[in-house]
Amino acid sequence: MQAKITLLPGDGIGPEVVAEAVKVLNAVGSKFGHEFNFIEALAGGIAIDQTGNPLPDESLAACRQSDAVLLGAVGGPKWSDPKAAVRPEQGLLKLRKELGLFANIRPVKIYPALAAASTLKPEVIANVDMVIVRELTGGLYFGQPQGRQDNERGRAAVDTMYYTEEEIGRLMRVSFDLARQRRKKITSVDKANVLASSRLWREVAHEVAAEYPDVEYEDILVDACSMYLIRRPGDFDVIATENMFGDILSDEASMLAGSMGMLPSASLADAPSAAGGKFGLYEPIHGSAPDIAGQGIANPLATILSTAMMLRTTFNLAAEADAVEAAVESVLGQGYRTPDLAWSGETKVGTTEMGNLVVKEIESA
Ligand code: IPM
Ligand code: MG
Repeated sequence: MQAKITLLPGDGIGPEVVAEAVKVLNAVGSKFGHEFNFIEALAGGIAIDQTGNPLPDESLAACRQSDAVLLGAVGGPKWSDPKAAVRPEQGLLKLRKELGLFANIRPVKIYPALAAASTLKPEVIANVDMVIVRELTGGLYFGQPQGRQDNERGRAAVDTMYYTEEEIGRLMRVSFDLARQRRKKITSVDKANVLASSRLWREVAHEVAAEYPDVEYEDILVDACSMYLIRRPGDFDVIATENMFGDILSDEASMLAGSMGMLPSASLADAPSAAGGKFGLYEPIHGSAPDIAGQGIANPLATILSTAMMLRTTFNLAAEADAVEAAVESVLGQGYRTPDLAWSGETKVGTTEMGNLVVKEIESA
């Protein structure tokens, strides 16, 4: 198979982790006889520095002409002046919106070897296997009006949480379809006791639930959900929620897995089908980690695991995806850890070495 992948390494640790993921894809290509062709493009702070635009038109065009996009991370202190006219994050949001990537799939899986890396008790995280489906192109991130509204009483600003029934319905359908391929349970998360957009969310979620009588459905409030995530995380199968709640809950859920550096994601314009074959943007859930950028110690596994999601979802290559995940599991099982995961007595490795270990596992499997 031949494929075209656009790389958007971005800022901070982004280029470091993307480089390792590319090595892994090339190893998969050699082993299984595929040709992955990479085009690198600018996005984020680096794009602002070089072009003044966090998502130059050429970058967007490159993504549109590719089968899949792999993104590292965007943002950093250099561009975070609240008064700045353009911000790196705008590039990422524009990319998601322009490509119609409304469904962000964030699986949370515990590798047994990492049980000690979680701050939670082993018995609490024992059965964790969930997917957070985060709505990605609506809600507070995009609702209008948004911005400063200074007036005679002083400084003021507004963000708007806006949802249409269509946006909610398609996100719920993706979530239910996914649940059907899993343990057939959906938790819809909202704040319906306070927010009008959440009451609509719940109304539409119930209507969609009626189309899926074989899937167990519950709705819970977002504050309660944040508590249950660390109290009884093993109970969740698919969590479906709006953009901002999903952003926050997925960072929280990453602590079950031991580190943000372990969680991959896929952003899709449609439901991931068992048969695969869909365009997608793949990225780790973590950010650019400016505090450790350039030190060669970032954990590349979330980005490497994102390539496994890409292989499965966009390229329909399940055996290849399994090979990447098995390689990660094996390397962790042998005790290798980037510093974010290292407990006492484990072998600490850097970004490049971790990537090399995964590549070696794939080659020798
Ligand atoms: C994420 C990130 C982004 C988001 C930022 C970088 C804009 O936190 O992908 O979770 O909030 O969506
Ligand atoms: Mg986030």
